[in-house]
Amino acid sequence: MKRILVTGAGGQIGSWLVPRLRDAYGVSKVLATDVRHSGSDASDGPFQVVDATDAKAVGQAVMRHRADTVFHLAAILSAVGERDPRLAWHVNMSSLEAVLEVAREQKCAVFVPSSIGVFGSSTPKDPAPQDAIMRPETMYGVTKLAGELLCDYYHARYDVDTRGLRFPGLVSYGAPPGGGTTDWAVEIFHKAVRNGRYTCFLGADTQLDFMYMPDAIRAAVELMEADPGRLVHRNAFNVTAMQLTPASLAAEIRVHVPDFAIDYAVDPVRQGIADSWPDRVDDSAAREEWGWQPAYDAASTARDMFEHLSEGAVV
Ligand code: NAD
Ligand code: SER
Repeated sequence: MKRILVTGAGGQIGSWLVPRLRDAYGVSKVLATDVRHSGSDASDGPFQVVDATDAKAVGQAVMRHRADTVFHLAAILSAVGERDPRLAWHVNMSSLEAVLEVAREQKCAVFVPSSIGVFGSSTPKDPAPQDAIMRPETMYGVTKLAGELLCDYYHARYDVDTRGLRFPGLVSYGAPPGGGTTDWAVEIFHKAVRNGRYTCFLGADTQLDFMYMPDAIRAAVELMEADPGRLVHRNAFNVTAMQLTPASLAAEIRVHVPDFAIDYAVDPVRQGIADSWPDRVDDSAAREEWGWQPAYDAASTARDMFEHLSEGAVV
């Protein structure tokens, strides 16, 4: 990776990934793009408004920047996708096709985040294997699974260096999450600091995989730097760091906010999505093929979140 273009750079992941890439590869080498401006984009390095569904615009941006690697983050997430499935299909598939085509022409490597959303109720729940039955029940999951297959196709057919991770829910401060089923695990921290209480849209014992953002960013960079000769799988690797339920994270939060209170107003749509996803994924392929190892568990995630939120990162 020498010259990098990031799509969807203003979102929850991009706002962490772009600074990390700029630290490692140089500010001018990383072009951040998004369909919208966000607060910090212009001052921190090169930024361009690019609608990732516009194949011509994506192609021009990649060529002008002379990118050799694209981190393709632009997408519609699970809860928003269930509100507008056609939008999710359009954005997630058109943008991926645009990125893969320019990558084929310009010989770029491509990172595409997939998701635990590729799994469905017929997948074994604990753990969900790397190579599993995959019948997703959301439009988001349908696009993520189709995206994995398309990435593998471009690798097999055109030798495009495509790689991806099935991210679990991601916990972070800074840019808020963009409308997913796992957003509760971010909201809960902000509400704990601001109000000392949180009303959760999932039930108390709904278990899903999670990861703290510094681990997620490191995982993406390590995968893209991994020796391709070691990769049996490519699109995409199961990765996880911890399993959380609203009740278990509330208990971690009480270590820092002893009077923290949680109650529940279950949203049937997001509860249905969460219930169709695994309780835990098996990430042994990532550990074996490129050395994946998380650094943060629930306790260290909560400690670090509160340290940063107390410094004023509450939104
Ligand atoms: P986000 O919603 O926070 O950010 C997505 C960004 O894409 C936004 O800045 C948005 O403006 C931009 N975008 C939307 N439509 C666009 C378009 N047509 N052209 C250009 N940009 C567009 O999402 P995120 O959490 O940063 O997720 C990034 C990727 O990681 C997505 O593919 C998502 O599916 C995947 N992922 C995220 C999580 C998570 O918990 N955050 C978990 C698994 C996978
Ligand atoms: N965090 C994402 C979502 O809930 C999972 O891909 O949509």
